[in-house]
Order: sequence, then structure tokens, then C-alpha cells
Amino acid sequence: MEINKIYNMDCLEGMKQLDDNTVDSVVTDPPYGLGFMGKEWDTFDKNQFGKKGNEGKNDLKVKKDFKILPRYKTDGLYDFTLSWSQEALRALKPGGHLLAFAGSRTYHKIACAIEDAGFEIRDQIMWIYGSGFPKSLNISKAIDKKLGNEISEWEGWGTALKPAHEPIVLARKPLSEKTVAENVLKWGTAGINIDECRFEGEGWSRSGKGRFPANVILDEEAGKVLDEQSGELTSHGGGTASYGGIFGNGSEITDKTAMKRFANDKGGASRFFYCPKASKSERNEGLEGFEVINQHPTVKPIDLMRYLIRLVTLPGGIVLDPFVGSGTTGIAAYFEQKNFIGFEKEQEYVDIAQARMNYYKKQKKLTYTDGKKKQKNQQLENFLKK
Ligand SMILES: C[S@@+](CC[C@H](N)C(=O)[O-])C[C@H]1O[C@@H](n2cnc3c(N)ncnc32)[C@H](O)[C@@H]1O
Repeated sequence: MEINKIYNMDCLEGMKQLDDNTVDSVVTDPPYGLGFMGKEWDTFDKNQFGKKGNEGKNDLKVKKDFKILPRYKTDGLYDFTLSWSQEALRALKPGGHLLAFAGSRTYHKIACAIEDAGFEIRDQIMWIYGSGFPKSLNISKAIDKKLGNEISEWEGWGTALKPAHEPIVLARKPLSEKTVAENVLKWGTAGINIDECRFEGEGWSRSGKGRFPANVILDEEAGKVLDEQSGELTSHGGGTASYGGIFGNGSEITDKTAMKRFANDKGGASRFFYCPKASKSERNEGLEGFEVINQHPTVKPIDLMRYLIRLVTLPGGIVLDPFVGSGTTGIAAYFEQKNFIGFEKEQEYVDIAQARMNYYKKQKKLTYTDGKKKQKNQQLENFLKK
């Protein structure tokens, strides 16, 4: 298959065409099986939404029927995830990593399916954000409606919490060699790129001296909330009583430079976590000529995807995203100077993804924010010229 291309295909078919052991990483935001905004692509157990005759339609009557369901079914999601992860496993090089987002309610099925496909679950990254809306049924109102009461004793009761995180499965294809070192030498895979993912202040620090990447990532808003709550803290180089000790400096790998560097530094607790910034306009950049702007409901920030790609992909490696959506992983791979193969079954989203990717290629828009900005931008510019 050609690289740096988005295929308008069902990924279950498309991935079969990939050769064994050829892809360096899989970074993807797959369906979570929540029937998100009534989308057919996110719905696997169609009967959970009641109404017969809606199957296969793009917008199911989720909201109306959802609340009367006795149980949330996820078996279809498990089967689907198992199928695509088996193909991903085959295409990945031994020791290659997979990063897959999941819903907080359906993570267990997605993670089990990935493990059952043959992956080793290595960690879970928490993507914590401040923008979620609670979709909670007002029980008191529902009872009032049913019984015709004015005020019921169920005042204040609901059915759901405000969503504020999405877990990301971090999994690895088993090694083909006896040791990590041998596997890395043979395939270039098995490790995670700690130093390139260190971060500091506004962005990441490619100098290799920033903070050790943690398995928690915050969006800007979540970072602000955390700082409001924590107030100003002082790091204790290597101690355990503060966030600094636990998250900032207490790594197993010799992290002494960072320990010294950040000893006694001050700030809110968010500084111990990578906090990618998403510009409001980025989801629609490149879509000026489109009648419908990017309404993809699950667009991820470009910087978040860049960070994840960098974490698990060697420079020049191939990143596979079986669920392209509006193309954020592809844009991120491009900026990270990695090759990309994507699948997306909806033509509408392929067009959007293509237009967004072309925009960034054309604009040569550079988004490095770290101290070595100039030098890195020059490198990127040279890469883009090729
Ligand atoms: C969660 S969205 C990805 C959104 C993406 N992260 C972004 O930033 O735009 C999942 C996408 O997978 C696509 N999809 C679902 N099932 C698929 C399949 N079997 N093959 C290919 N694409 C599929 C859906 O159409 C949807 O656009």
C-alpha cells in the first residue's frame, strides 16, 4: 500500500492489504461504542437503541430511547475492537506500540479486546479535559412527569457524572527477540521516546532536560483548574511528599539532571503534566471552501496527537490510523516527520481530512513552541520541502 495516504475504506478490509511487520506504530481514536451523538459508526449493539428500522442509518434516535434501556451492551464493541486490533497486531513490527483512545464507560471492553488480540497492555494514559457536558437524566423531573407531582423526594438525583477524561490504552506487540535491546536493534521498535517527550513550561522540551512524561495529560482548562486547587507548590528534588517528587522527578531512569534542574521550582501542580494547547480555529483550518465545516464530533487537538505519535514512533517511521475521522493523526504525523497510512470509511470525513492535511502542507504551518524553536522549524521546513 502507498504511504502518506488516506484510504476511503473500511479498515477491516483495508488493513488486510498491509504486509506483516511493516508499521512502526498505531495511534488511533477508534469508535468507543457509545452511540456518540447518534452516529451509526459508534454503535455496535443496535438493539440497545430500541426502535427497529433505525439500524444502519447515520443518526439513530439515541437520546430518546437510550434512557429506557435496562442495560448498556458492549459485546459488539468488543468483537469489533478485537477484529481491528488483530489486523493492527499483524501489521505492526514486533515491539511496536498501539495507542488507542477509549470512552470512560467502555474502556474495559476496548482494553480487553486489544489484549485478547495478542497485545501486551503496558499502561493507561489519562487524557483529562475541562470541556465535557454531563448528560444526566433529572430523576426528580422524570418522576414528576410520570406521577404528576410537583416536588418529589428525588430532587437533585441524576444518572451521570460530568465527563472529564478519556483513557488511552498503551499496548505493545510482543517482542520477536529475547530482549528489548535486541528488538530495538532489529526493528527500531519496543521503546518509548522519553527524552523527546519531556516538557517544560509552555510546551515540550526537545533538549532532553524537561520533565519526565507522565501517564496523565491535561488540556489547558483542566490544567488551570488543577492550578487553582493546588495553589503554588515548590518541588523538592526527588522527595516524595509533593507532586514534584511523585510526578516530576521520581523516575526510575536516571533523571538526575531534571531532578537538580527542577529542585525548588515553583508553580501550580499542572506543571508536572504535559498540557497541549488547542487553538479554537485548528479544527476548521483548510476547510474554507467547504459548505459544511468540520462537524466531526470527536476531533482531537493536533498537539496532543503529535505528542502521542512522538512517544511511540521512530523518526521516519510509519504511523497507522485505522479511524482517521477528520484527519488529526495524519496532520500530527506530518508535523512529526513520520509517514502515515489512514483508513476512513465515510467519504465526507475523508474529504475533510484531506483538505485539512493539504492546508498544513501548503501553509507549511509550523507549530513548535519550545526553546529550540528556530532550529526545529528549520528542520521541519526542510522536511516539508522534500
Ligand atoms: C472517533 S472518530 C476519529 C476522530 C479523529 N480523532 C479526529 O480528530 O477527527 C472515528 C472515525 O472512525 C470512522 N470509522 C468507524 N468505523 C470504521 C471502519 N470500520 N473503518 C474505517 N473507519 C471507520 C468513523 O467514520 C469516524 O470518523
